[in-house]
Parts: sequence; C-alpha cells; structure tokens
Amino acid sequence: MGLFDKTVASSVKFMPKAVVRKVASRYVSGETLQQAVQECKRLNDDGCLVTMDLLGESIEDEAHANASADTYLDILDAIEEHQVDGNVSIKPTHFGLGLSVELFEKNVRRVLEKAGAMGNFVRIDMEDHPYTDDTLAVFRKLREEGIEYTGTVLQAMLHRTQADLEGLDDLGPNLRLCKGVYREPEEIAFQTYDDINASFIKMLEYALPKRNYYLGIATHDDPVIEAAEKIIAEHELKREDYEFQMLLGVRQEVRKKLVDRGHRVRVYVPYGTEWYAYCVRRLKENPKFAGFVTKDVLKNPKMLFGTKAGDR
Ligand code: FDA
Repeated sequence: MGLFDKTVASSVKFMPKAVVRKVASRYVSGETLQQAVQECKRLNDDGCLVTMDLLGESIEDEAHANASADTYLDILDAIEEHQVDGNVSIKPTHFGLGLSVELFEKNVRRVLEKAGAMGNFVRIDMEDHPYTDDTLAVFRKLREEGIEYTGTVLQAMLHRTQADLEGLDDLGPNLRLCKGVYREPEEIAFQTYDDINASFIKMLEYALPKRNYYLGIATHDDPVIEAAEKIIAEHELKREDYEFQMLLGVRQEVRKKLVDRGHRVRVYVPYGTEWYAYCVRRLKENPKFAGFVTKDVLKNPKMLFGTKAGDR
C-alpha cells in the first residue's frame, strides 16, 4: 500500500461527507427501493442472484427497529412483484438487538413469517463481537423450530468461529462465510491477512465437503476463491451445493468470471438513505479506491457539490 493510500485509509473518518457521497454511487444501489430493484434486475440479467439490504444499524428506539422490519416487508413485496431472483439480508442491531434480544427476535419473526409464506429466505448478517452470541442463539432457536428459510454469517477473523461452525453441524445450516469487517481486539480475533485467510480456508475445508451445509462463500480475495474452487472440484460439489457472494461495486470482473465458470453468484445490494457508515467501511477496506476518489476530488472540487448518493 502506498503512503498516500495509507494516509487516506487512516483518515477516512475525516473525509468530507461529499467525498463519501461520491463513493456511495459505487457501493450503494440508490436511496430508494425502486432504484435497488432496478439494480437487482440488472444483476439478474447478468446471471447473478441478489440479496437486498436496507442500510442502517444501531437504531435508538423500538419504533425505529419496528420501522426497519416494516421496510423489509415492503422489500419482500417488491421482490415478488418485480420477480427479482433474490432474498434479503438484515442487520441484528437494525432490528433492535442493541436494545433487547426480544425486540430483535420479534422483528426477525415478522419478516420470516412473510418470507416463509412467499418461499423466500432471510439472511441474518453478523455484526461485531458483542452481538455474536445473541445472534447465534436466536438463529439456533429459529432453526430448531424448523424454520429452514433463514441463515446467518460466520466471520473467519474471530478465534471462536471454527468452534461455532462445528457447533452448527447438527442443524446443517445455510451459512455465509466471510472474513469479518469489524475491527476486533487481538484477544479474540486474528489480525493479519495471512491468519484470517488461513482461518477462512480451514472453514471451507471443513464445511464444503460435508455437504450438509449450504455455504455462501463471501469474498473478493483471489487466494480464498481459488482455495474454494479447488475444494469444490476435488469433492465434485454440484452448483446447487454452495454459492459465491460479493458486494455491489467490488471486483465485478472477478464476479463475471465466476458466473462464466458456472458458479452461482449472489450480489449484496444495499440501498437507503443511511449510506454513510456503510461507505466508510468499504473505503477502509479498500484504501486504493479511497485514494483514487480523493485524488479525483482534489483535481475536480466541483464533484463535492451536486452528487447525490445513488447517482450512477
Ligand atoms: P480482502 O479484504 O482481503 O479483499 C480482497 C480484494 O478484494 C482486495 O485486495 C481488493 O482488491 C478487493 N476489495 C475488497 N474490498 C473492497 C472494496 N470495498 N472495494 C474495492 N475492492 C475491494 N462482514 C461481516 O462482518 N458481517 C457480514 O454479515 C458480512 N456480510 C458480507 C456479505 C457479502 C456478500 C460479502 C461479500 C461480504 C460481507 N462482509 C461481512 C464483509 C467481509 O467480512 C469483508 O470485510 C469483505 O468481503 C472484504 O473481504 P475479502 O474477503 O473480499 O478480502
């Protein structure tokens, strides 16, 4: 990473909101559900499945948590109406987990009820470590009740994850595996690229051959993708046994190659007015892009005015 990129990465939080707004046009499908649906239809036409995400997290009161769940009911309606080939991903704190487990569970159940009736699916995203236990506990409870149309996420960076994965064996669940996007303390999380990749690949080696899991392999990283493809080939897994997952706006050329090679690929499609925190996370992940945007803006300061999130 060059010095300029490094400096930009460490100062993302000080970036003017207008610069982050510019970034949003790459990572966020728009501010409205209609824009998100249009993006999903484009991705479906390109041979990709989608998972739709309403941006937002850590809400402050029950009414807001309930409103987030209400919006997901609208998203499910839109998926049906526009025949989008896709499902939804929810954030536990957006559904109230930061306030109480009961509120989170109540709101997930409301969305699950509708998703189940429609034959759809709800992915419960994983947030930072204070929420891991509660998220997994609610997920287990739902699955033990026989609700199969839900899945959750495990993060390779956490030391606990291999045990969590093995602990879910009995459920044969639908799991998204990813590196983990949150900064976590070194007592509980791997910190280096090599250690996180080794943990990710170990999980793939454990879970892919078992076949009782359905895995969403969520990464844009070549070595992890290559390791997954090797295991898939060695164990002669069928296309229906797993899928690759990628974020909107990230490494589209790799996404296309995966589709061309015959894999199922699902794209995570966020939308909504609360794009700021999401884009800051993406910028921190990709200092090169942050550097590129900053250079662009410095060359052309007019960009800071008149660009709306969602403009493409
Ligand atoms: P890595 O970060 O090493 O990136 C590999 C390469 O991909 C980079 O070198 C760069 O070329 C490219 N790249 C990565 N990020 C980029 C970016 N933002 N812009 C441009 N290029 C980029 N995390 C979590 O904690 N909980 C969750 O629920 C989810 N959910 C989720 C869903 C889906 C579908 C995906 C793809 C990812 C998540 N994540 C997540 C995020 C995940 O944990 C991780 O932070 C990112 O996927 C980046 O990790 P990679 O595996 O891509 O590797």
